[in-house]
Amino acid sequence: MTRVFSGMQPTGVLHLGNYLGAMKQFIALQEEGECYYCIVDLHALTIPRDPAELRRRTRELAGLYVAAGLDPAKATIFVQSHNPDHAEAAWLLQCVARIGELSRMTQFKDKGKDSESATSGLFTYPVLMAADILLYQTEVVPVGEDQRQHMELTRDLAERFNRQYGEVFTVPDVRIQKATARIMGLDNPEKKMSKSAPSEANYIALLEEPKSILKKFKRAVTDSGTEIRFDPEQKAGVSNLLSIYSAVSGQSIDTLVEQYQGKGYGHLKVDTAEAVIAELEPLQARYHQLMESGEIDDILAKGAKQARAATAETLAKMKEAMGLIL
Ligand code: TYM
Repeated sequence: MTRVFSGMQPTGVLHLGNYLGAMKQFIALQEEGECYYCIVDLHALTIPRDPAELRRRTRELAGLYVAAGLDPAKATIFVQSHNPDHAEAAWLLQCVARIGELSRMTQFKDKGKDSESATSGLFTYPVLMAADILLYQTEVVPVGEDQRQHMELTRDLAERFNRQYGEVFTVPDVRIQKATARIMGLDNPEKKMSKSAPSEANYIALLEEPKSILKKFKRAVTDSGTEIRFDPEQKAGVSNLLSIYSAVSGQSIDTLVEQYQGKGYGHLKVDTAEAVIAELEPLQARYHQLMESGEIDDILAKGAKQARAATAETLAKMKEAMGLIL
């Protein structure tokens, strides 16, 4: 069985971009692979957070994983800090990673490079991500487009470690779903949908009220024309709506374009909103039921045990290869 690993940060709200770009792939892959899906709370610490909020978001994300369709009987769902091997392997890999390559990471450049007060954790963030992945001898990593550079670094670190210390790691492949790799912001279709966007009009949260979802789609920024066609360069807003609609309805973009010939943007916006609401309503109902039941803590306890069992051997191999006494 293919080994699959991916993770999400428990920061801000989980949105439609996370869901369509990553989570839907997680759900599909659990049918064919041995999957590990992590809530990366240690990564969340790289930017200072309110501790109570981080605790709440961590449980919320676990609940959303399960409510969206991840099945704890098929996949291991766990919190990163519950498997201490991640932090330990990250240190070992920090002694393989180079300052030069970490300085070139666009996420670091965007979030902290020019700030004296940025944490050193933010700088070494991608090394912890590499540790997450490599510890599980992962073969496939499903993510959205924004993680591509981190994945290239992960592959480089695996190859360098194997060359320097002997074959320890599987070199993982990235899996990016082209159609949903980069869901754009509703308020600005030139930029990706993001939980750190300054305006709430940017994203649809997975737990958002149907009324608010409809309102945001109605106000989604499009060009001033009337023609509905898929052209991300010239018609970013309309193309983003078509991508979202297609992903939640299962209809191809070509079919949708044909269906909306001669109709205005207004129709497309309302129908996209309704398709998104139809997708999210059952998820929201399952989420609330699950969180009331208290079941999520048991799922995470079981996941932690499975995760620890899966990484012990690789961590020991890393240490031995590097010259530590076991
Ligand atoms: P995070 O928490 O920012 O995002 C979680 C996943 O959602 C995808 N994503 C998107 N996909 C399409 N359109 C968008 N607008 C959009 N926004 C976010 C992301 O690509 C990601 O797949 N560094 C990672 C977390 C991580 C990780 C890992 C991932 C830590 N360790 C190991 C994979 C494997 C992150 O910050 O994702």
